[in-house]
Amino acid sequence: MVIATLPDLLDKMWRDYATMNPQALKIHNLFLERGDQVQNDHIAFRTFNHPKVSVDVLANPFLESGYTYRQDYHFTEKKLYAKHFEHTDAQMPKIFISELKLEEFDEDVQNTVNQLVDQVPDYITQQFDFCSKGRPWEVSYETYKKLQQKSEYAAWMAAHGYRPNHFTVFVNALTSFDDIREVNKFIKQNGFKMNDSGGEVKGSKEVYLEQSSTLADTVEVDFSDGTRSVPACYYEFAQRYPQSDGELYQGFVAKSADKIFESTNKNQ
Ligand code: NI
Repeated sequence: MVIATLPDLLDKMWRDYATMNPQALKIHNLFLERGDQVQNDHIAFRTFNHPKVSVDVLANPFLESGYTYRQDYHFTEKKLYAKHFEHTDAQMPKIFISELKLEEFDEDVQNTVNQLVDQVPDYITQQFDFCSKGRPWEVSYETYKKLQQKSEYAAWMAAHGYRPNHFTVFVNALTSFDDIREVNKFIKQNGFKMNDSGGEVKGSKEVYLEQSSTLADTVEVDFSDGTRSVPACYYEFAQRYPQSDGELYQGFVAKSADKIFESTNKNQ
């Protein structure tokens, strides 16, 4: 099936994500069982700042479908740059795309990543659903491990390629919970593990955004030298607060997202 519209793309991405990350689907269904509606706050993607596959390349289908650029973010320690996009319809998920700044890594990492990106046919990057194509390159587990020493983010990208890194439950829209702390408690009571790097709840009312996330599921990935179990994706939760103008803050908080990125690290 050719994916050429935003609703079809969002559907496909959720189905792929839910299949690959059973914990997200289970948690999603637990909310529905309580009578809650699950609204998606944002979908996050990862890539490299190589011009062939940069944030701007991944953003294209969204820009063609009613989204506009809103804000950018710098993650100095993790060597990342990110942009967020919003749709004219506020019910639609925000899109958050980050890219790894290759020039800040040693030549070995740069060469390794360039060898992956060189395998991507140009026409694929022009397709509407490029951001959900999966891994468009062959990579060995040995290379994955090597990248992991330098950047967990680079290793995750090498193993999984183009697919949502996480979907995010908009806590404000859950009517059966008072706040994100209650949500976290409920998730842990149901046997799921939360990322507690930097504390379970990242951010605060003062920065208008509180976020938490599960620890990533692990998934079997086929590498060129064998099948291995590696961290996959996580499920995120976001509670937004009104700014002085009374409007809910719609942006992101770099300091919080910095810790959320660690939800796909190997040694949790
Ligand atoms: Ni997020």
